[in-house]
Amino acid sequence: MLTTRFTEMVGCSVPIQQAGMGQLANPELAGAVAKAGGLGLVSVRGMSPERIARFLDEARHRSGGASGGAIGANVLFMDDEDPEEVRGWARAAAPHARVVDFFWGTPDSALVEIVHAGGALACWQVGSVDAAAAADRAGCDFVVAQGTEAGGHVQGHIGLLALLDQVLAAVSVPVVAAGGIGSGRAMAAALAAGAAGVRVGTRFVAAEEAHAHPTYVQALIAARPEDSVYTEAFSYGWEHAPHRVLRSSVEAAEAYQGEIVGQRPDHDGGEPTDVHRFAPLAVTDQVTGTIEAMPLWAGESVGGVTRVQPAGDIVRELAGEAERFLRVF
Ligand SMILES: Cc1cc2nc3c(=O)[nH]c(=O)nc-3n(C[C@H](O)[C@H](O)[C@H](O)COP(=O)(O)O)c2cc1C
Repeated sequence: MLTTRFTEMVGCSVPIQQAGMGQLANPELAGAVAKAGGLGLVSVRGMSPERIARFLDEARHRSGGASGGAIGANVLFMDDEDPEEVRGWARAAAPHARVVDFFWGTPDSALVEIVHAGGALACWQVGSVDAAAAADRAGCDFVVAQGTEAGGHVQGHIGLLALLDQVLAAVSVPVVAAGGIGSGRAMAAALAAGAAGVRVGTRFVAAEEAHAHPTYVQALIAARPEDSVYTEAFSYGWEHAPHRVLRSSVEAAEAYQGEIVGQRPDHDGGEPTDVHRFAPLAVTDQVTGTIEAMPLWAGESVGGVTRVQPAGDIVRELAGEAERFLRVF
């Protein structure tokens, strides 16, 4: 058993937090991660309060309740968005989640208070020591330090170990490490460096329950760490937001002739909508069109993606390996 300040605070048995990942971070994935003892996140950005409650309750139901894991909500937002809307997502999520997790927007004590009032723990993913200190001051119960190795949107400018070291010295709350962790060895290294847990994204894209598009998953399986690039290419509708994707997807989008690369489903039962070239979206198996030219988010951890697996197996593999490596220390 890997017992840490994170597992004790969250009430889970494995110090792994599955990342928020848009529609890939669905109730089925979060439930499976929690069932295996980790903290599974459901991404709730943009949803109605009813849908947020339903999705989180479904994830908890799928986790089997007393399985040792926990369910959280991921709230991705930008500073120029309507603050009332963002507060609405947090307010709807907190009573149905153990953790409400924020990313991209600046740490905000009003959001943390909403989460605490709803009975959940608050956490913030940050990319700098200053942002970590701000999250601590805002009242967060733990912070996630995201190194530039991370898949998806990347806020910081330095690698995980250097960032983790600084953040650990600056805050008193537990720190979870994110970015480039795709194996038990890497997980052990982060824990040995002082992290109370690890946040994993890219590995879970290839979980059965994420329902990522098969073309995306096959590209991840074929990729090596050096195929992950830090870029601002997929900036349609969300500018100046660096991210990590497979280089092949940037090249395919650049070479694509036309402005619409495909279609994405409407989750409220409406007609599918167009996917613009260079639009950021989670490429689920419901998305159609030229998948290769869509953002194939991938961190440097992509070397750890070797096959499609149940999410529970990924949790058990990472935690089991990490425990073995830590015993060797
Ligand atoms: C496909 C994908 C989508 C992501 N979307 C989000 C998101 O919606 N919200 C969020 O907080 N982080 C998001 N991230 C970033 C993760 O929170 C995390 O920092 C990252 O996955 C860690 O690095 P790794 O991918 O190497 O494990 C995403 C990452 C990936 C791979």
